[in-house]
Amino acid sequence: MTYEAAARFEPTTKSASATVLERSAVIDLDAVRHNVRQFVAVASPASVMAVVKADAYGHGAIQVARAALGAGARWLGVAHISEALVLRAAGIDAPMLAWLHTTESNFQAAVAAGVDVGISGWELDAVVAAAREQERPARIHLKVDTGLGRNGSTITQWDQLVGQAMEYQDEGLLRVVGIFSHLAVADEPHRPETDEQLAVFREAIAVAEDAGVDTEVRHLANTPATLSRPDAHFDLVRVGLGLYGLSPFEGQSSAELGLRPAMTVRTLVSNCKRVPEGQGVSYGLNYRTSGESTLGLIPLGYADGVPRIATGGPVRVNGVNYPVVGRIAMDQMVIDFGIVGADEPSLLGAEAVMFGDGADGGPTADDWAAAAGTNNYEIVTRISPRVPRIYVNETPEADAR
Ligand SMILES: Cc1ncc(COP(=O)(O)O)c(C=O)c1O
Repeated sequence: MTYEAAARFEPTTKSASATVLERSAVIDLDAVRHNVRQFVAVASPASVMAVVKADAYGHGAIQVARAALGAGARWLGVAHISEALVLRAAGIDAPMLAWLHTTESNFQAAVAAGVDVGISGWELDAVVAAAREQERPARIHLKVDTGLGRNGSTITQWDQLVGQAMEYQDEGLLRVVGIFSHLAVADEPHRPETDEQLAVFREAIAVAEDAGVDTEVRHLANTPATLSRPDAHFDLVRVGLGLYGLSPFEGQSSAELGLRPAMTVRTLVSNCKRVPEGQGVSYGLNYRTSGESTLGLIPLGYADGVPRIATGGPVRVNGVNYPVVGRIAMDQMVIDFGIVGADEPSLLGAEAVMFGDGADGGPTADDWAAAAGTNNYEIVTRISPRVPRIYVNETPEADAR
């Protein structure tokens, strides 16, 4: 039984309220579709690759991939071949690129499933061996390191890689479908390094074209570059964070970018009690109540993906945001309602929102990123499988491709 099935399990003796899930990450696929349409419009005439690696940043790769394709994305992007194979097994046949491999990666399965693979250098021979084995040409995208210092060929080794790839292409063993690179600081638009990376990328394209490479797609832009650098769009933009409605820019909210956050993490206040002044809270007793007060127990902890370091992060109950007090534990955290009296009884079982779209002044993934000293990418991606994903606004007909 999955966590989701268990969460939905309803003993016959339970009341109707048992249908309210104890905790869930609610994914609004309409928000995903809205965000995709925004990026399709911004990127046009370039196409959009929906980046759905890491289970679509925690949102659910299959559901998000279908919604994104239904809303106009043409490509899907993942890190691992195994992630691409999950999408293929779900019947998704859109063009798909996987770009992060090891010597144990299953290139044969990628070739057999028509999954494009990113090539930095050493993978070329392994992919060609897989193509020979499968008696089917591999589809590859050559990656150049324009400055990020991670994957990709250095510009000095680039002409050699291109030459090798073209020899294999002439032998019918592969097709060079794309040339790509990845940006390091596009989320900080004032920094000069993006211009430097663009210049190296253009140089790499020129070298490849001189060698006879005729690509379908040249691609460089991630979410921030798609939004802020039209000169980086080329033929295809690879959008991850923005699909999920989150802003890559410090000081600019989702709403200011016309995006709608798709994930809401919510639960129910699981205990509520009046305590005296000086009550210590959670391991280490780092927090003590400053007066008589009411503590609320929130049944989400670091096993659910709440960063342990994020004490102070907000939880919304009955329309008020309360900071988490004391240490965040594996399964739970505590908020201090700061009240005593008539309101107490209504708090047990009240909905508690860790983050959502923020539209009503509620907490956002950005708030939790600030509390944890990290970014919003990490906050949504780390929500663990113990928190069932619940999809709203699924339209199976539109998203069935
Ligand atoms: C190679 C590559 N392209 C595109 C993306 C998408 O980036 P973003 O989520 O900023 O759109 C990523 C994500 O890290 C990536 O690794």
